[in-house]
Amino acid sequence: MKRKKFIIIALCLLFFICGCTKKKDKILTFTVGGAPSEVALWESLVKEFEMQSGLKVNSLRQPTDTDQRRQGLVISLKAKKADPDVFLMDVAWVAQFAASGWLEELDDYTQKNKTNLDVFFAKVLNLADKYKGKLIAFPVYIDGGLLYYRKDLLEKYGYPNPPFTWPELVKYSLKIQKEERKKNPQFYGFVWQGAQYEGLTCTFLEFAASGGGGILSDNADIEKIIFNSSQNRKALHYMHDLIHRYKISPPNTFTEMKEEEVRMFFQQGNALFERNWPYAWALHQSPNSQVKDKVAIAPLPHFSEGESVSTLGGWHIGISKYSDAKEESFKFLSFVTSYVNQKKLALQLGWNPARTDVYQDKELIEKMPHLASLREVFENAYARPPLPYYTLISEVVQRRVNSVLSGRISPSEALSRGQIEIQAIINRYKKK
Ligand code: GLC
Repeated sequence: MKRKKFIIIALCLLFFICGCTKKKDKILTFTVGGAPSEVALWESLVKEFEMQSGLKVNSLRQPTDTDQRRQGLVISLKAKKADPDVFLMDVAWVAQFAASGWLEELDDYTQKNKTNLDVFFAKVLNLADKYKGKLIAFPVYIDGGLLYYRKDLLEKYGYPNPPFTWPELVKYSLKIQKEERKKNPQFYGFVWQGAQYEGLTCTFLEFAASGGGGILSDNADIEKIIFNSSQNRKALHYMHDLIHRYKISPPNTFTEMKEEEVRMFFQQGNALFERNWPYAWALHQSPNSQVKDKVAIAPLPHFSEGESVSTLGGWHIGISKYSDAKEESFKFLSFVTSYVNQKKLALQLGWNPARTDVYQDKELIEKMPHLASLREVFENAYARPPLPYYTLISEVVQRRVNSVLSGRISPSEALSRGQIEIQAIINRYKKK
């Protein structure tokens, strides 16, 4: 009898101890994707956080492509899974996640932790990180499309400046491509993201808005979307012609070219101009890059009647509504957006900090002098409409623009058909 009692007490103790240990050893699951250099830096940040906080973090690796990253998260969130607890989100889909009720509201956490929100870019915070007045995410970095160019080649062929207009870009490309092909038959004038995915909507908006087009007809009403316009038609003709008429962009532009494909093509020394996000800078300047010290950055060109436009990109961090480690996740979120780590992400990955105070950092200004001018580019960047159903609209834009690039459909037809599809989506989901 005594023995039985002893066993019962021992078992209870064991359960108690296990229960306590489990709670103490709560593991935080964080999903992260991107280029290999980005994932490597996140891994080192995670290790540092583990050391500082005593918490364990399990990093779940995601692909580079934003659409695939979103789909991966949607599966877990729809199933109300407790993991991942904390994740990065593209500015393009934060509103969708918030409207689906998947994001923990963060106002109580910021009040409790006395978080200073004033250090973040107010425009970005208001546009992307608030939903119905509640804070649901924090910005991690800001992106904007840029023109990378080979300064050595422009100099060699007597062009003192990078092109300001799209026709100039074609002119320089035709000349230099012809000459450079004598040594390198794979050489092209201009590489950019033309595959069917979110990145194509971003590039299309830059071409279109730099000639007065775009998709937002009215800033006050973001549910009014005009896809079928003469300016957009002009942009589509131009994008098509880069590949098929001038042949300064490679034929796989519309089948394969996403950020990393474009970045590698240019980095191997096979292109004169590249459209990409700021992350490409640090990689182009890395020791094994073929274009190290031969590359420079400029605003994207524009049509003669317009101005340079960058699409506003960037990534944000939020906590899952279904997480079982919300307090711990908030600690991680605060760690990622701290001054020290924002500076580290800028210095090591070339990312543009979401905090304005970091732009005044002496070391950063010295090592990344181009950051000051980029800040302006980002403050005036073209935002995609933060609609909960934005990804459905973008899917139409991507498919229609891509079919023009492949030559399957004319710009006029793509725009008129796309407009009908977009209107049907708006009618279905519009705020009542
Ligand atoms: C970059 C941008 C993001 C954009 C994506 C498109 O990751 O930060 O906002 O949607 O590229 O590929």
